Amino acid sequence: MSEAVTVPGLLAMKGEGRKIAAMTAYDASFARAMDAAGMDVVLVGDTLGMVVQGHKTTLPVTLADMVYHTGCVARGLARALLMADMPFLTFQGSCERALQDAGSLLRAGAQIVKVEGAGVLVDNVAYLCARGVPVCGHIGLTPQFVNSLGGFKVQGRGAQAAVLKAQAQDLAEAGVSALLLEAIPAPLAAEITETVSVPTIGIGAGAACDGQVLVMHDALGLGAHRARFVRDFLAGRGGGVSEALRAYVEAVRAGTFPGPSESYGE
Ligand code: KIV
Repeated sequence: MSEAVTVPGLLAMKGEGRKIAAMTAYDASFARAMDAAGMDVVLVGDTLGMVVQGHKTTLPVTLADMVYHTGCVARGLARALLMADMPFLTFQGSCERALQDAGSLLRAGAQIVKVEGAGVLVDNVAYLCARGVPVCGHIGLTPQFVNSLGGFKVQGRGAQAAVLKAQAQDLAEAGVSALLLEAIPAPLAAEITETVSVPTIGIGAGAACDGQVLVMHDALGLGAHRARFVRDFLAGRGGGVSEALRAYVEAVRAGTFPGPSESYGE
């Protein structure tokens, strides 16, 4: 087994041009399979509200849910870096509340927390980073803002592109260790990846990002809706889940996922 992935290790991967393969997991068994497949980052996403709990959005997910699933995943991992989402309204209020709730996730085994949004929330990001809580920012389509956005839609087209570029820069300056870019045009993601110092991890953001992430259920053909950026790595393969996970890691490392038809244009 190669060395465990660390937060500074992600930055090193960007520097060396090694792509970061990431996927969501919610329990120990799948976490173990992802670790064995060579996944670099395993994300306990608040998508668990949708793919595990059956809700229509991620908003009902609680901190207790996240702590429980983070603990389950932590027990399955030996090498991959464990990232956990801060659920709706745990991060968006006071800095003190954000720190306490991030602390609960770190105590459950997370090594970095992911937070959605920028703007006024950048102060909270800086507060966490300065206190030993590594943070991954998440901009573009931010599912916790689904009601404000009017649905799960591609972001960053037209005049909005400049807003996203500024958000990426602000978050990098606030100290994030990585940036997740969701559902934005591939050329915009490429420009952000080129200009920010921290690694970008894309989902629906084109192949130029420093890494890719997929929701596990989508990658294994179990998604309720098939978004443009989803590839089913299980379909047409004889080898089962483990081989599908390895195929995903290989495709991300080789830069063959996502292809042009799995990305958005401007
Ligand atoms: O919660 C989640 O699963 C996410 C995805 C965008 C990867 O944040």
